[in-house]
Amino acid sequence: GKGEYDHFMLKEIHEQPTALSQALEGRIDTQNARIALADFEPGTFADVDSVQFVACGTSYHAALYGSLALKQAGIESTALLANEYSVSAPPVDDDTLVVAVTQSGETADTLNALRQAEAEGAMTVTVTNVVGSTAAREADEALFIRAGPEIGVAATKTFSSQAVMLTLLGQRIAADRHGEPSADLETLLPDLAAMPDAIDDLLAETDAEAIAERYHGSRSYFFIGRGLGFPVALEGALKFKEITYEHAEGFASGELKHGPLALVTPDTPVFAIFTGQEDEKTLKNAEEAQTRGAPVIAVCPEGHRAVDVADAHLEIPETDADLAGLLANVQLQLVSYYAADLLDRPIDKPRNLAKSVTVE
Ligand code: M6R
Repeated sequence: GKGEYDHFMLKEIHEQPTALSQALEGRIDTQNARIALADFEPGTFADVDSVQFVACGTSYHAALYGSLALKQAGIESTALLANEYSVSAPPVDDDTLVVAVTQSGETADTLNALRQAEAEGAMTVTVTNVVGSTAAREADEALFIRAGPEIGVAATKTFSSQAVMLTLLGQRIAADRHGEPSADLETLLPDLAAMPDAIDDLLAETDAEAIAERYHGSRSYFFIGRGLGFPVALEGALKFKEITYEHAEGFASGELKHGPLALVTPDTPVFAIFTGQEDEKTLKNAEEAQTRGAPVIAVCPEGHRAVDVADAHLEIPETDADLAGLLANVQLQLVSYYAADLLDRPIDKPRNLAKSVTVE
């Protein structure tokens, strides 16, 4: 049941520290700065030249996150919408790895993309929450995120667990491919191990409810980020529209001035996500919105320059640039939740949506 929580969504947001501890259990070796993914035989990914991630919705945002992290680790990679795969898939060969990211393991669009990739000779992996799911049975390999059951239609803890597991998988692929683990692991792994505590701290001190109240009744809600902050902006907006039924859009920070800025007014709060990648540019983009009267809510650590500029602040604990976006996402999950609650929406079962989309 929901226990002390009014909704499964809020419960599942609070389960993220546990979900991440379960995901990481036995899979990282911080002492020796190594990934210990015994889920795969040594050298499984040694021949991988390029990686294609396929997924839908929130899982697609996790896939975008994982794909960017993999590029940063020096491997050619791209995230594709599974429902576009049949009409827009880049070529594959037997050195292409196709990773199907699907919480349920039953999403028809994602299964179709997975099957197409297999038919064309790619090696396939699924990153999923459900042991025994169709994706887990059909892919060459499966990596289970161990998030525990997610009842709310809005994906929350599974997004965080997927993004973390994709970050680990990416490091593993790069290590197999390059014959040695990346030097970044020495700083990344301790911060990964500290993620459950960081999320606990964030949950204990969040101002998300006050922010939701302060901007309640706005015309539209915008989310901007760059680099790893971009998928988080997209996810922030998807969650917001899914459960509040209010209009929300996520943009790459630098895109704002190429069109969306025309929508910006004092009635359109802008959530700006700072992940430590070219933050100065994102801050400039946020200020362009502020000049047009939009309130800016900075999602960033305490002491960040954006805090002085912004109208409001959602604090995230200090962490590695590869992980900051995941903490920002937790704050945005909470803002969506409280905004939907103020509007009295049926948060766990939004209209017109299903937990698992088994039709094309
Ligand atoms: O089970 P999957 O991860 O394949 O589901 C994909 C999407 O349908 C899903 O993430 C959807 O976007 C969420 N309900 C959004 O919160």
